[in-house]
Amino acid sequence: MSIRRFSMQLLILVGISLLVGGSTRPSWMSEQPFDRQAADQGKLVFETYGCFVCHGNEGSGGVKNKNSATGGVVTALTYTSRAFKDVELKERIIKGPSPAKKTDPKGPTPPLSMPAYRGMISDAELTDLVAYIRSLTPEEDEEPKAAGQERPPVPEFMLGNNNCQVCHSLVTEMFKTNPHHGAQVTQKGEEEAAVCSTCHGDGRRHAAGYGDLASIVRFSKEASGSINEKNNVCLQCHEKGMRLHWKGSAHESKNLACVDCHKIMEPASPQKLFAKVNELETCFQCHQQRRAQLQRSSHMPFREGKMKCTDCHNPHGTANEKLLIEATVNENCYKCHADKRGPFLWEHPPVAENCANCHEPHGSNHEKLLVVDRPRLCQRCHIEARHPTTPQLASTRFAFNRSCQNCHSQIHGSNSPSGVRFHR
Ligand code: HEC
Ligand code: HEC
Ligand code: HEC
Ligand code: HEC
Ligand code: HEC
Ligand code: HEC
Ligand code: HEC
Ligand code: HEC
Ligand code: HEC
Ligand code: HEC
Ligand code: HEC
Repeated sequence: MSIRRFSMQLLILVGISLLVGGSTRPSWMSEQPFDRQAADQGKLVFETYGCFVCHGNEGSGGVKNKNSATGGVVTALTYTSRAFKDVELKERIIKGPSPAKKTDPKGPTPPLSMPAYRGMISDAELTDLVAYIRSLTPEEDEEPKAAGQERPPVPEFMLGNNNCQVCHSLVTEMFKTNPHHGAQVTQKGEEEAAVCSTCHGDGRRHAAGYGDLASIVRFSKEASGSINEKNNVCLQCHEKGMRLHWKGSAHESKNLACVDCHKIMEPASPQKLFAKVNELETCFQCHQQRRAQLQRSSHMPFREGKMKCTDCHNPHGTANEKLLIEATVNENCYKCHADKRGPFLWEHPPVAENCANCHEPHGSNHEKLLVVDRPRLCQRCHIEARHPTTPQLASTRFAFNRSCQNCHSQIHGSNSPSGVRFHR
């Protein structure tokens, strides 16, 4: 190829690109010539299908979507057409939600997600809609047009207590594996999404108000309404059983919410909808001292996963002190340590009275969960006794090794006829 022919071709190429670039519409806008009439039609489609509820008037954005990676708001559609071809835009509109992208990966799923419009919007409407979305994109040197302030009414198909999935599709999808999802909850065979309003209340006013937060029950701390009101929503169904003594319990009277310990929508635990990964961690949110105690050298097998707080306590309240499940401390212990129950021929009164006289059930730095070291353990009560009237040196026969128990070995009680001093 001669240099002349080559530069001719170059000239033609430059000419073409100038022509295209210099035309009224930049090349990224559309494969199709711009159709004003279609765009006007598209605006109606945009309003008919409630796109503005999430994308804002004329796609101008700004609608809150907590924790979404797009700055905590639903994306504006102003520049969308630059990123998609027509077919891609159509595909995007009919296909429905993509996996939620979050700002804080551990935070909640953003409440709003793109509905699937497949089967709802016709092909002709879709073409008009795409033309409209393209018309929203300003020329490169222009500012976007300001959108009108007046919001069109929310379309009827989005309203109603059974319609949460229209706007909250990902959240609804996730909820399908929740124990609250299913026939047991819905009364008289109502539609499945009626489940949502059993906890959140009137969805219709909420939706008609463009996601009005005041007309829906929310459970987070910052949401309006007292903790009591919010707990009562749960107690409608959960008042009986374990929660018979909730009212007036130590936790209720300290204003704890059900959602301090239970997370409903996206449980953090595989069991019991706990707010943290397991029961222990759920309690440790507030009972830090117990966490520390469980790390002590002597402890029951909590850390090993063989015991939990609810072996002895019912956090929802009991008729007993300290939220204990059984009426006395000892009854709680006997459930697993039946051998200590007796009856003994010779009882040691502090044992029968309260195991906690000598043991700290949550963990201790003294062996066998003892509250203090031996021999001091015994000498707290037995300083008046005959032989060990004075505190013993660790090296005496009264105190070395298991100390008093070298001789008084049956400290929890004895059934031997001659075990009156717990020697056997
Ligand atoms: C319930 C709220 C909601 C409604 C209603 C809604 N969208 Fe969306 N849309 C979203 C969210 C959120 C995204 C972000 C991506 C996602 O979640 O999949 C999105 C993404 C998009 C995208 C892709 C934009 C991008 O940059 O990724 C387009 C295009 C779009 N929506 C158009 C529409 C149109 C047209 C309508 C009406 C027919 C509509 N949306 C209705 C919430 C909504
Ligand atoms: C059993 C009661 C209950 C039911 C049923 C329920 N929710 Fe929730 N919802 C909650 C609670 C409690 C929260 C507060 C956060 C949490 O505990 O996970 C919440 C939070 C939310 C949030 C805020 C986002 C978040 O994760 O913080 C949305 C949106 C939501 N629910 C929508 C729904 C929808 C849609 C349904 C029906 C599919 C539904 N909820 C059913 C109790 C419920
Ligand atoms: C027409 C769309 C639409 C419908 C239908 C809808 N919502 Fe919403 N919802 C929204 C919007 C928009 C927001 C965000 C409002 C805000 O954060 O300012 C929202 C927020 C929420 C929140 C609070 C989320 C948070 O961040 O704390 C809950 C809970 C909720 N909706 C529950 C429901 C339930 C339950 C239903 C069905 C009974 C429902 N919504 C139906 C649009 C809708
Ligand atoms: C409309 C009745 C209803 C309401 C309201 C309700 N629940 Fe439930 N809840 C149920 C049913 C039904 C189950 C499933 C019971 C079963 O599987 O045995 C359940 C199960 C549970 C479980 C046990 C889950 C498991 O894995 O064992 C917890 C925890 C729970 N709900 C907490 C709550 C909290 C907290 C609230 C308030 C935010 C609430 N519930 C509101 C009916 C309800
Ligand atoms: C201090 C933490 C805490 C609070 C507050 C709390 N729970 Fe629980 N909840 C638990 C624990 C721990 C379990 C597991 C009990 C077990 O396994 O024996 C549980 C279990 C449950 C269960 C399933 C077991 C059953 O009874 O069927 C339900 C339902 C429940 N809670 C509802 C509630 C409701 C409703 C509230 C508010 C009134 C509430 N919880 C408040 C800690 C709590
Ligand atoms: C959100 C914070 C919080 C969580 C989570 C929590 N507690 Fe508590 N708990 C408290 C408060 C506050 C008190 C009252 C303390 C006081 O009066 O000094 C309390 C008191 C108690 C008491 C003593 C009751 C009494 O009558 O003195 C027991 C036992 C208890 N909690 C067990 C648990 C167990 C078990 C769990 C986990 C299932 C748990 N708590 C989770 C806040 C919490
Ligand atoms: C083996 C039974 C048992 C287990 C398991 C147990 N506790 Fe206790 N807890 C007790 C007894 C007994 C008391 C009352 C002690 C007393 O009166 O001196 C108590 C008291 C408490 C108190 C009140 C302390 C005070 O001084 O008022 C809290 C808080 C508590 N437990 C939290 C927990 C937590 C959190 C767990 C799980 C890590 C747990 N407990 C596991 C038996 C148990
Ligand atoms: C849910 C069952 C259960 C309950 C209830 C229970 N324990 Fe235990 N306890 C255990 C297990 C399991 C061990 C570990 C046994 C082993 O290692 O052989 C243990 C060990 C002990 C030990 C010996 C610790 C050591 O270092 O060897 C003492 C002391 C003890 N428990 C006291 C109590 C007291 C006091 C109570 C009542 C407040 C109680 N336990 C309630 C299950 C329980
Ligand atoms: C007077 C103090 C005292 C009282 C009260 C007491 N214990 Fe003990 N317990 C001890 C001592 C000391 C040991 C260590 C024994 C050893 O080293 O052989 C022990 C050890 C244990 C052990 C572990 C070794 C074994 O014998 O299995 C368990 C379990 C136990 N006690 C349970 C209980 C229970 C349950 C109660 C309440 C019914 C209770 N104790 C009341 C002093 C007491
Ligand atoms: C909480 C107080 C208390 C503690 C701690 C205690 N005891 Fe006792 N012990 C008593 C009481 C009360 C009696 C009954 C005294 C009586 O009947 O006169 C008793 C009785 C005895 C007896 C029988 C005495 C008699 O007169 O029949 C022996 C032996 C004994 N204890 C040893 C021990 C040993 C060893 C320890 C430490 C492991 C210990 N005690 C810890 C309160 C305690
Ligand atoms: C070397 C073995 C031995 C050791 C160690 C020992 N004792 Fe004794 N203790 C006895 C004998 C034997 C008797 C019974 C004396 C009698 O019946 O006259 C007795 C009696 C008692 C009595 C009953 C006293 C009375 O007034 O009848 C008490 C209480 C007692 N011991 C507590 C303790 C305490 C506390 C310790 C640890 C500091 C301890 N013993 C260590 C052997 C021992």
